[in-house]
Amino acid sequence: MGVERWAFITGAGGDIGGATADLLAKRGWGVICADIDGARAEARAASITAAGGAAHAMALDVTDEAAVNAAAQKALAIGDVRALINNAGRAFGANMRLTNYATWRQDITLNLDSAYLCISAFQDHLLRQGGSIVNMGSVNGLGMYGHPAYSAAKAGLMHLTRVLAVEFGDRGVRVNAVAPGTVRTKAWDDRLAGNPQVFDELTAWYPLGKVAVPADVAAAVAFLVSDDASHITGVILPVDGGITAGVTKLYQSITQQH
Ligand SMILES: NC(=O)c1ccc[n+]([C@@H]2O[C@H](COP(=O)([O-])OP(=O)(O)OC[C@H]3O[C@@H](n4cnc5c(N)ncnc54)[C@H](O)[C@@H]3O)[C@@H](O)[C@H]2O)c1
Repeated sequence: MGVERWAFITGAGGDIGGATADLLAKRGWGVICADIDGARAEARAASITAAGGAAHAMALDVTDEAAVNAAAQKALAIGDVRALINNAGRAFGANMRLTNYATWRQDITLNLDSAYLCISAFQDHLLRQGGSIVNMGSVNGLGMYGHPAYSAAKAGLMHLTRVLAVEFGDRGVRVNAVAPGTVRTKAWDDRLAGNPQVFDELTAWYPLGKVAVPADVAAAVAFLVSDDASHITGVILPVDGGITAGVTKLYQSITQQH
């Protein structure tokens, strides 16, 4: 199949990364699904291929510099990578008392250093060919929603987005981020096991009255890498049901209008 442009998606064995791979493949991109869980990456690539798309899988730990560089070389041998989606991530310490230096380092390494490593590995190609990068931020990088080290890493990742958008702009490489609020994914499995009502509880805080599903975030990522976004760079796009705009319950209490 003559696929012209490829996307390299980290954490594509997971829910948001997988939904993004599915959508980009439907839109004609070849997708390289990279994940530390090689079996999940394989499963995603296989389902995309079975549906008529072009996909490859790679087992990759995005915190391992040598492995990231090797994966980038392998990816560029597969095809012309024009989109890098730095999606792999997860949160470790829930609050400062539950954060020690080891978990702090884990959060920063997985959620920030990994993007640096992937961008470093692909930048020569992207700056030569043109393309775009989407970093998976979070509302945690914009306000206080717990997980201090994760939040600091996501804030760093989102600022790096703006810095690189300017640095790479005149070379035809756009750099954007999305900042999801709560998304129903397996990242919530532990909290869901502890409280089966967790999503119902959370729903009450969101102006749109719902939490996101992975496809909501995938749609934003697919837009940002598409030609429809050709004049958009340096943007942090919240995909958050409105929560960073404000909290319904709070304004109702302030105005006493319910
Ligand atoms: N789910 C949410 O509520 C939410 C909200 C905001 C931001 N995010 C962000 O979305 C991204 C995707 O998360 P998700 O919710 O789809 O979770 P997920 O657990 O479904 O997916 C995360 C994937 O990343 C992979 N991964 C973990 N460590 C890795 C490593 N070292 N190298 C390569 N892959 C690795 C996991 O194996 C997993 O497949 C993360 O960056 C997360 O911080 C999620």
